[in-house]
Amino acid sequence: MTDDVLIVHGGTPIEGEIRVRGAKNLVPKAMVAALLGSAPSRLRNVPDIRDVRVVRGLLQLHGVTVRSGEEPGELVLDPSHVESANVADIDAHAGSSRIPILFCGPLLHRLGHAFIPGLGGCDIGGRPVDFHFDVLRSFGATIEKRADGQYLEAPKGLRGCKIRLPYPSVGSTEQVLLTAVLAEGDTELSNAAVEPEIEDLICVLQKMGAIISLDTDRTIRITGVDQLGGYTHRALPDRLEAASWASAALATKGSVYVHGASQREMLTFLNVYRKVGGAFEVDEVGIRFWHPGGALNAIALETDVHPGFQTDWQQPLVVALTQASGLSIVHETVYESRLGFTSALNQMGAHIQLYRECLGGTPCRFGQRNFLHSAVVSGPTTLQGADLVIPDLRGGFSYLIAALAAQGTSRVHGIDLINRGYENFENKLEALGAKVERA
Ligand code: EPU
Repeated sequence: MTDDVLIVHGGTPIEGEIRVRGAKNLVPKAMVAALLGSAPSRLRNVPDIRDVRVVRGLLQLHGVTVRSGEEPGELVLDPSHVESANVADIDAHAGSSRIPILFCGPLLHRLGHAFIPGLGGCDIGGRPVDFHFDVLRSFGATIEKRADGQYLEAPKGLRGCKIRLPYPSVGSTEQVLLTAVLAEGDTELSNAAVEPEIEDLICVLQKMGAIISLDTDRTIRITGVDQLGGYTHRALPDRLEAASWASAALATKGSVYVHGASQREMLTFLNVYRKVGGAFEVDEVGIRFWHPGGALNAIALETDVHPGFQTDWQQPLVVALTQASGLSIVHETVYESRLGFTSALNQMGAHIQLYRECLGGTPCRFGQRNFLHSAVVSGPTTLQGADLVIPDLRGGFSYLIAALAAQGTSRVHGIDLINRGYENFENKLEALGAKVERA
């Protein structure tokens, strides 16, 4: 498919200003939350990305009207006439995203049943949904797996419960929140994920009338209420997209002002950026990231759940680490297969060796299990343009960064995948002076 190829002429630092809007990992979930209300909700700072379009389509299939609000990037979601959707229509969204699984609790509350098609999302590990279904069964749901998807019912309604997650999974924590707020009685969730996007979802639900507390020990307590209203909310900015542009500035020896980036949600990233040798300056409306000249430093990096170093920051930063002097060690502890993208970087001239062992300070779930989840990056290396096929969202953006930093021309195939999570990225690249063109 030639129309899905971006030609990148590398070797020029990217310089200028771009804007990030609401977080991809919050906005679609806040849209699902609107389904729980008895009144319309207004969500602001909504980016035009594919995950938003998928959820919009699924909501509309279930009778929620979704229209643009007064300000750009505002959605008004009206759940007054929620209705059952045709299974074949829902199934048309199979494989498009991971968000459909979060419809379970809200649909069980509103309709008493739900159908969830096969899920999509990035191929960065097995990505099972066992925690989600265990959680839903704890609330009293029954789940029947058929060839086309999962059929759920709640014959006796949903009741609050005590749950401990085996791992602080983001999606499973959201599943509990979206189900517990209207369940009968109290729910206690321990070992919960506490990512900033989850806190923002809690803010959304609290605005709707929910009662939710978040303790410092990863325990979330929810007291179910009979009814929720609508909300008006401005989505928190996308800290993952902001970090991607920051890494692009570093790898290309450039300078990017990311309008909308927020320091509070990026503390851990900013510390690592500074250790590598990147420079940044925070002001009231954004952060400027740049390469200050001189050599970059090799570092030891371990991904983790929040407040650790976010796994989605890892792939773009690894490209910058190919330009650092010495041996960097990267231990990926959230997804077992999130380092596969490095083989293409090696074809471009990088020296990255993968290991099955846990090379970080802390042994993780993937040690001794045959997963190549640690890397040693030896640098600096000069990258050369190449033919690249995008493997997943963040890996894909990382290939763009590598192509921009490389000498010569690259052809990046499967470029549309990046639209899943990066709004208008081609316009942004052009605004930063990148030499890119569609094949
Ligand atoms: N896990 C299970 N069973 C489950 C659920 C999760 O074993 O039922 C495991 C996963 O396989 C993984 C770990 O738990 O090893 C963490 O998964 P989590 O549930 O936290 O991830 P997610 O909710 O599916 C979201 C983001 C990801 C981000 C992770 C971690 C969305 C739509 N996706 O995924 O974002 O990496 O949390 O913060 O919110 C991305 O933006 O590129 C991306 C992949």
